[in-house]
Amino acid sequence: MNEKNMIEVHNLTKTFTAYKKGKGLAGTLKSLFKREAIHIEAVKDISFDIKPGEIIGYIGANGAGKSTTIKMMTGILNPTSGYVKVGDYIPYEKRQENAKHIGVVFGQKTQLWWDLPVGETFAILKEIYQVPDDFYASQMAYFDEIFELSEFMGQTVRTLSLGQRMRADLAASMLHNPKVLFLDEPTIGLDVMVKERIRKAIKDMNQRYGTTILLTTHDMSDIEELCHRIIIIDKGKLLYDGGIDTIRKEFGYERKIVFDLRYDDATLVEQTLETLIPSVDGCQPDNTTYQLSEGQLTVNFNRNQVGVSGIMNFVLSHFNVLDFSVQDMDIEAIVKRF
Ligand SMILES: Nc1ncnc2c1ncn2[C@@H]1O[C@H](COP(=O)(O)OP(=O)(O)OP(=O)(O)O)[C@@H](O)[C@H]1O
Ligand SMILES: [Mg+2]
Repeated sequence: MNEKNMIEVHNLTKTFTAYKKGKGLAGTLKSLFKREAIHIEAVKDISFDIKPGEIIGYIGANGAGKSTTIKMMTGILNPTSGYVKVGDYIPYEKRQENAKHIGVVFGQKTQLWWDLPVGETFAILKEIYQVPDDFYASQMAYFDEIFELSEFMGQTVRTLSLGQRMRADLAASMLHNPKVLFLDEPTIGLDVMVKERIRKAIKDMNQRYGTTILLTTHDMSDIEELCHRIIIIDKGKLLYDGGIDTIRKEFGYERKIVFDLRYDDATLVEQTLETLIPSVDGCQPDNTTYQLSEGQLTVNFNRNQVGVSGIMNFVLSHFNVLDFSVQDMDIEAIVKRF
């Protein structure tokens, strides 16, 4: 192990085996005797190293293999081949030892005990991780300041709102001051204020203690604010590992406008778009694309070559627009462009 690496991922591969189920009762009965296996290659031959104190954005489209990678890094899953090393441990071989040095948040699913009050949860975690009294007190005071935990300390986890639950999950993952934090979509479904608070806490942990952090997210603002380096994976394979600057240089001009439209005839809207978009100043098939779906028109374009005003004027003068928003490049669009 290279002394300088906090995490090493080497030719990591995970293939899931699932079994096809036949159709109907006959099919179900048949598959009891003869099952047809399907193999899902969730992670394919991925390698990278992470140095202590880095904050890495681990990104990719839905189903790319991000959570599967994190599950191997945290010891929940065994790799099919290749290996992971976190600090001094192979996580899936020394799951308990590894757990003492890491913190984990799966945004889609709480790590906390559903039926326990939040306050008791922390008291139990203190015992599990053997957190000294004074450090516990200072951590709890800090969490209360940054996540406002006292607002819901007496409530059971099951009664928390999504934002409260995520704040509790994050605080729990940080309580024992782990060397490495794995955050799988820690800002999913949260409002702007809570997202901001969570980003601040992540940044703070990293600066105070030099915590190494691996973060997955579908929100480009999380990446922009927190990460200098990103790793992009697609269909289980590594696509890019490098600075955020390169991505910004290459894709920073991508813009997206989403319009909410009212119309009766989608075909008519499609026809208008197809015939008239090319007449908008600067618009070419290689710098402007659009999709119409369920009343929403999304236009992606290169801000350097196409003016926002040209697109706005065109859409406003041809369609009944209820609302619109201008957004930065999004991760899915970047992955597609690779
Ligand atoms: N236990 C499992 N059994 C079978 N297939 C699985 C299992 N877990 C994940 N997969 C499959 O592996 C692939 C990668 O899934 P994974 O959850 O790692 O994606 P992800 O990048 O985290 O996606 P998302 O952004 O939607 O969270 C998907 O095709 C998924 O269906
Ligand atoms: Mg996932």
